[in-house]
Order: sequence, then structure tokens, then C-alpha cells
Amino acid sequence: MTNPRVAVIPVAGKGTRWMPVTRNVPKELLPVWRRTSASYAFEEAVNAGFEEIILVISPEKHDVLDHFMRFDSSDLGPQYAGESLSELHHRVKVRACIQETPRGLGDAILCAEQDVAGRPFGVLLPDEVLMTNGIAMLDPHTPSVLLMEVPFSQRSNYGIVKGEMVDGAFIINDLVEKPEPALAPSSLAVTGRYTFTPEIFDYLRTQQPGKGGEIQLTDAMRRYTQAHPIHGFIYRDVRYDAGQPLGLLTASVDFALRDKSYGSEVRQMILTLLDQHKPSETE
Ligand code: UTP
Repeated sequence: MTNPRVAVIPVAGKGTRWMPVTRNVPKELLPVWRRTSASYAFEEAVNAGFEEIILVISPEKHDVLDHFMRFDSSDLGPQYAGESLSELHHRVKVRACIQETPRGLGDAILCAEQDVAGRPFGVLLPDEVLMTNGIAMLDPHTPSVLLMEVPFSQRSNYGIVKGEMVDGAFIINDLVEKPEPALAPSSLAVTGRYTFTPEIFDYLRTQQPGKGGEIQLTDAMRRYTQAHPIHGFIYRDVRYDAGQPLGLLTASVDFALRDKSYGSEVRQMILTLLDQHKPSETE
């Protein structure tokens, strides 16, 4: 029997961009239209064939784990309609590991080392809500990351990769975190979908704290690329950053407009609101 495919979904962050809401509610449980924001990444992993999902939670975030322990087909997309809870849980096993303090994304991934148990693994950052399956585009056995094209002025907001295109994959040999746009080595930014082999843990374990005093995944990936290439695959569909209010609101409106039962009402609601909030002629 082959080993079950495993994905790590870290949800132990502080959620400072969502304060004060996150003082009481984990951002992963905020809704994007009619489902929790984190359920989209979860569904992406299930659809891509991952059979085991490790949630990295903080000691205060047991409610995120409870949510996924009790999820059923109504928490996922229409293709799961009618699937029973036990069928779903038979298909995908959920377990959690604890990150005691939010020491950064790199540290969160390192917490999952024991449960990953020497297998190649996927990582999905649930803040990022993708319209089509991104993790399924990656090579499940080779370290790889989903990339997206960003406009010139936004390059300073992302990790930008350096490398070259070879046979449909961008072979990454360096990464620059938030460069000055003119100094960016390409227009391709790292998104929150990755696959790694267990060697990445050696780099995470020895990674010194970086920006914000945190163990940064991108710093460890950068060191990794000095010795081994990482493959990049370019995602061209819609992606939202639900880790901040405007991104989550935009994602919600987009999903609401696409909802067959509500789309036309939502459209009308938006038009009415726009009409009520017309800028005055003096503005
Ligand atoms: P973010 O940096 O977007 O999340 O990390 P954050 O730290 O919660 O948010 P802000 O920046 O303070 O608003 C991306 C993902 O990594 C997880 C987060 O929960 C999020 O899903 N993460 C981050 C951890 O699990 N542990 C950490 O120490 C940091």
C-alpha cells in the first residue's frame, strides 16, 4: 500500500491584520460568502487527492480544529453534496499539531515534521482563497511552489523569484523578499501553495529568525534554492488574500455573485448601495 498523501495547513498565526476581530474569533473561521475562509483551502487539498491533513493550531485555536473535525459535505463544494460525514472522514483524515507560540510560518511548518513522517507533503496557506485548484498544479514529489504574475508596483509586497523557464516549469534558483520593484529579478511572486520533500525540515530547523523576529519559510526556501532548485508553476486565475479585510470582502462578493441562488439579488444589492453612495458632485 502506498503512503497516504499529506498536506499541512497552518492556522496558528496571530491574525494581526484582522484585529480586533481576531481577539475572539480565529480569522480562519470568518466567512467567505457562506463558508469559512479556511474551508476553501481544505477543499482544494481534498480535491487534489490529499488523504491526510495536518492542521497546525495554536493552543487557543481548538475551535478551528473542532470546525474541521465536524465538517461535512455542506462545508465543501457542490460535488460533495450527498456524501455522508463518515464517507468524507474515511476519505480524508484530519489531525492537529500544536505550535506553542506564533514564531512564524517556517516554525509552524516545522511543528508538523513528526506527523509528516518522512513523506513529501503539500502546504496550503488558508488565507489565500483561489478560484481554481492551485495545489493540484504542483508536482507532488518535487519541491515546487505556485507563482503568480504581479504588476510592477506590487513587486515590493511579495517574495519574488529568480530563475528561468524550462519545459513549462520556472526553475527557481533564488528568492528576494519584498524587493524594490526595479530590483526585482522577475515579475513572478510566491503564493501560499507549496510542495516540499522532508529535506526542507533541515533548513527550517537551522533557520535564524528573520523579519519580525519570526522563522520565515521564505528565508529557509531561499537557502534551500542555493543547493537545490525549486520548481515554480504559474497560476493565472483569481486569488484573494482573505488574511486582510478588503481581500476577504472582495472574495465574499465575488463568490456571492457566482452563487446561482443569490447572484442576481447580490448584484442588485451592490447596484443599490452604489447608487446610495454616489460621490457628490463637489467631491
Ligand atoms: P500570515 O502571516 O498571513 O498570518 O501567515 P498571521 O501571522 O496570522 O497574520 P498577520 O500577518 O498577523 O495578520 C500565513 C499563514 O501561516 C499561519 C497563519 O495562521 C496563516 O494561515 N501561521 C503564521 C502560523 O500557523 N504560525 C505562525 O507563527 C505564523
